[in-house]
Amino acid sequence: MSRFPLALLLAFTLTFAATLRAAEPEDIFKTAKRLERGVNLGNALEAPREGEWGLTLKAEYFAKIAHAGLRSVRIPISWSSHAAAEPPYTIDPKFFERIDWAVDQALAHKLSVVINVHHFGEMDSDPESHLPRLVGLWKQIATHFRSRPGEVIFELLNEPHDKLTDELWNPMIPQLLGVIRETNPERAVIVGAGHWNSVHNLEKLKLPAADRRLIVTFHYYEPLHFTHQAASWVPESTKWKGETWRGTETQVAVLTKDFDEAAAWAKSQARPLYLGEFGAYEEADFESRVTWTRAVAQAAAQRGIPTCYWEFGAGFGLFDRDANRWRDALLQAVLKNK
Ligand code: BGC
Repeated sequence: MSRFPLALLLAFTLTFAATLRAAEPEDIFKTAKRLERGVNLGNALEAPREGEWGLTLKAEYFAKIAHAGLRSVRIPISWSSHAAAEPPYTIDPKFFERIDWAVDQALAHKLSVVINVHHFGEMDSDPESHLPRLVGLWKQIATHFRSRPGEVIFELLNEPHDKLTDELWNPMIPQLLGVIRETNPERAVIVGAGHWNSVHNLEKLKLPAADRRLIVTFHYYEPLHFTHQAASWVPESTKWKGETWRGTETQVAVLTKDFDEAAAWAKSQARPLYLGEFGAYEEADFESRVTWTRAVAQAAAQRGIPTCYWEFGAGFGLFDRDANRWRDALLQAVLKNK
């Protein structure tokens, strides 16, 4: 028999194998790692109408963020304020255009970009009645962004809480992923536990074992009496005014324990973690905010957890929009440079 067909067959097999390899998605731990370090573009697109909370995204913000050395942005989005109440829950095309613009800006500056569903309050007050709408929103969002590169990452729902307990939330996760996977089989998707994506609820989170394209998020604002003192949206929090965080042994011990537990859980599940929000509100003294932010950023870094500070230019702001400059000590704390 001639050797030619055999050689041809070998060449064909090798090319085919190479194509298969090329089509393989990036390792999910690598995708998560590229989120390090990020900032939330909060108070803009998760307001009922962008601008209503005093912040409208500008192209220059993305340039500043990239230039400062940050690598990702998380864009909180109130899709439910821009979608019909009845099936098929059509999202306003103009709103999609605006989100496309923001995603384009991020990608043009080589920033990974997380887009989520934020402030869908009905999911927390009456979850079962509103789940079909959330599924309908994800069907449209997933289809719309299906051709975007892997740097665009979806996050199912910000901070499930109230009536949306872990017991109700867990079985909703595969339903939402099901509709996303129809059009985005390989896209990295972020998901967190109940009780406001609490680190302490990770133990309760149940993820579909077969889906290995997931990154697990948690938010860290502890101690709340420090980070949320005099925050208008937190009842009774004016009483906490004056709380400091100096990195005492007791304070650091709590942080260490929380992050050790998170890291141990993630290891046991073989899932990457993401600290999707952490920050201290402007009512706290600035020095404490910097000390706390640095300590949290370092606790995460020591355990290989990428971080995303809450947030860019409002009440927790890394960036002072009035003065048009970074709050440098806070920025350096996030960057872990100092
Ligand atoms: C909420 C914001 C809030 C922040 C800190 C976010 O998840 O959406 O409204 O300012 O957490 O409390």
